[in-house]
Amino acid sequence: MTHTRRAFIQSGLAMSALSFFPKAGSAATPEFQVMTAQSGAVQLAPPDYPKTEIWGYDGKFPGPVIRVRQGARLQRRLVNKLPQATSLHWHGVRISNAMDGVAGLTQDAIPTGETFDYDFAVPDAGTFWFHAHNRSVEQVARGLYGALIVEEPIAPDVDRDEVLILDDWLLNPETAQLDPDFEAVHDRSHAGRRGNFVATNGSFNSTLNVSQGERMRLRLINAANARIFVLGLSGLKGWVMAFDGMPLVTPSEISEPIILGPGQRADLFVDVIADEGESAHLVRLEDGQGFAQTEFRVTGTLASAVRDVPQVLPPNPNMDVPGLEQARRIRLNMEGGAMGNLDAAILEGERKTFRQLVDANQFWAFNGTVGMTEKPLASLSRGETARVEIYNDTSFPHAMHLHGMHFREVLEGGEVGPLQDTLLMFGGETREIAFVADNPGKWLFHCHMLSHAASGMMTWLEVA
Ligand code: C2O
Ligand code: CU
Repeated sequence: MTHTRRAFIQSGLAMSALSFFPKAGSAATPEFQVMTAQSGAVQLAPPDYPKTEIWGYDGKFPGPVIRVRQGARLQRRLVNKLPQATSLHWHGVRISNAMDGVAGLTQDAIPTGETFDYDFAVPDAGTFWFHAHNRSVEQVARGLYGALIVEEPIAPDVDRDEVLILDDWLLNPETAQLDPDFEAVHDRSHAGRRGNFVATNGSFNSTLNVSQGERMRLRLINAANARIFVLGLSGLKGWVMAFDGMPLVTPSEISEPIILGPGQRADLFVDVIADEGESAHLVRLEDGQGFAQTEFRVTGTLASAVRDVPQVLPPNPNMDVPGLEQARRIRLNMEGGAMGNLDAAILEGERKTFRQLVDANQFWAFNGTVGMTEKPLASLSRGETARVEIYNDTSFPHAMHLHGMHFREVLEGGEVGPLQDTLLMFGGETREIAFVADNPGKWLFHCHMLSHAASGMMTWLEVA
C-alpha cells in the first residue's frame, strides 16, 4: 500500500481512459433566515434504486448555496430537528470565535428542538463551506453541509460560476441507504470512511450544458469524510485561481492533477475547448484510470472563442505575511493508526496502553496525547507569529485544518507558500506552516479525515 504524494500524482499521470489533458462591508443583511437541520430523502443512486435517507439543511441535498457579498454580515438561525445535537461550522471563514460552531469548544451542541443564531461578518471573498461540527464523522457523512460563496466586489470576467461539491457516500449497494456504522474500527484506524458512490452535488452523472469558448469559474469543494480527490481536465483549458478560498498571486495553468484533501477547495477558471457536439470533463483520476466527475456537454459555440489568460483575483484584506524569524515554534508529531508505532498515549489525562486505546476506539495521537485536552497545544499572544512543524509519523495521509486563521506553508529556503486553511500531508512527511495569530479565541486544529478526528486527531490553539 503506498500513500505517498508521488503515488497519488502518478495515479493521475498514468490515467488513460479519458483523453486527459495534462494541460488538461458590513452592510447589514435585512433578515435573519432560518435554516433547519432535518432528515430528507434524496435520489442519489440511479432511478431504479430507492431514495437515500439523508440529513440536510432544510432537509435537502445538496444543501443551500449561501451567496453573500464580501464584507457582508451573515445571519442564520439554525433550528435542530435532528434526532441528535448539532452545531454549524463555517469552514475557512476568518470568523469571530463565538460563531465558529465547534461543539464543546466554542459553543454547546444545540439539542434537538432548539436553535442557535449565527451572526458574523465575512471578511474574505472566495469559496467556503459550512458543515455540522458535532459528531461530524456521522453528520457530515449524512449530508449536513453546503457551500458558502463570498463574492468579490467586482465580478471577475467569467461567463458562468458553478459550485461543484465533491463527495463520496458509503451506500448499501442494495438499498442505497447510508452505511450506519460511523464508528467502524477499520475506518478509524486506516484511511477513514471512504464511500463507494462518488458524486458531484449529489449526482453520480453530474452534467452541464456549455458552449465552446465559454469561460467558467468552477468552485470545487471536497466535502468527503476522507477521500482525496485527484482531478484533471479534458476538453478544458484552465487555471487554478484560488485555493482554500484565497486568491493565488500567480494563477498557474493546470498542467498536472489537482489534489484536494477533505475540506480543501480550489477555484478554477476553465475555458471550454472541446468542439460542439462533444463533451469536456472534470476527470477524477484513480488507480491509473479516469472517471467523469462532471460532464460538460458542448451544445453551442460562443462567438468570441479565444480569451486571454485570466486576471488574478483581488487579494483579501489584512493578510500579513508571517515573519519567520521571531516566530514561536511548535512541534506536532502525528502518531498511531494501523501499521503505526503507538504503544501508549494519554487519553483524558491518563496513560493508556495501545490495547486500552483500541478498546476506547481511539487510534491516533498528537505528541503522545489522544484527542482534546484541557490545555491548548499552544497559547499565542495576539499578533504573534507561530510556526508549526508537523511530522506525519503514520502510514496514512492526513488533512490538517486550522480554524479561524489561514496559514502559509514554509517552503525550502524560507519561502512561504499560498494561504490555505487545510494542509494535506502524506505518510512520512514533515511539513511546516506559519501564521500570524491575529484572531483571538479558541481554535480547533484537527485532521479533516473525520474518522481520524473522532479517534484522536484533534487539538486546539488559543490566541489571547
Ligand atoms: Cu471543516 Cu473543524 O472543520
Ligand atoms: Cu487524518
